[in-house]
Amino acid sequence: MSWIKEQSPEDKDKQELIKSTGKIPQHIAIIMDGNGRWANQQGKQRLFGHREGIESVRDIVNAASLIGVKHLTLYAFSIENWKRPPMEVNGLMKLLEIFLQKEFKELNENQVVINTIGKTNSLPKSVQKILRDSYEKTKDNSGLHLNLAISYGSRWDIMRAIQMIALDVRGGKLSPEDITDELFSSYLQTANIPDPDLLIRTSGEYRISNFLLWELAYSEIYFTEKLWPEFRRDELYSALMDYARRERRFGKTSSQINESTEQSYLKKVIDVIKRK
Ligand code: FPP
Repeated sequence: MSWIKEQSPEDKDKQELIKSTGKIPQHIAIIMDGNGRWANQQGKQRLFGHREGIESVRDIVNAASLIGVKHLTLYAFSIENWKRPPMEVNGLMKLLEIFLQKEFKELNENQVVINTIGKTNSLPKSVQKILRDSYEKTKDNSGLHLNLAISYGSRWDIMRAIQMIALDVRGGKLSPEDITDELFSSYLQTANIPDPDLLIRTSGEYRISNFLLWELAYSEIYFTEKLWPEFRRDELYSALMDYARRERRFGKTSSQINESTEQSYLKKVIDVIKRK
């Protein structure tokens, strides 16, 4: 099924409006929270909430891909989540596997690259295999990069990077002076993925929860009260409109930012005049 062909005119209009701001984040990261509370509200087991959460995943991946987001990173299972009751952990692993089995064809047809970040060797072998195969089969696709953070923890990733750098220094491949921001980033699971422009967290919790601690240094953060199973494309559009209104300064002053926007606008005008 082609997502472009299936898109409703109403949805297309909403996306056009957001695109007209010229401020679509190239990387959105999401802490999908609130599945358990949503299930509770319905008087159901927690796994029921996770299952409904998958419907949100499907909708958000589709909408993000259509609007032209290049990277979407979803926090699906943290290293700390291994401490949950075995029934819930096993259920989540099964849901992940079923999601990839069921959705693979459609994701691939729509050019999605399915990538994983995290300590994947702790996952059941069948999940490891399906994640590996999904990546191998989609790695040359041209569309949205869907990064699934599974058995992921940012401190684990940072510690691992430090250990690998230390080994390379000991082995003579690196000297301590070579260690820069860029070099450090290249040792992380997120190497080759630009830092998130926008982080979204659902369910009214105001925490980062060991997610992309290094990468989020300059990201805009959007918190919403919506529980993850309620977070569908219209909620994403609200977050994108909010993001478009923000001024990202990266440590500079507001007037410096406006000046450089004006300068690049002027440069474009001069280039056009010169070409005539
Ligand atoms: C947080 O809600 C959610 C999770 C720990 C798991 C998220 C998983 C999914 C949405 C389904 C599988 C994902 C993919 C990518 C196919 P919570 O259980 O902490 O909710 P609570 O805070 O209300 O208890």
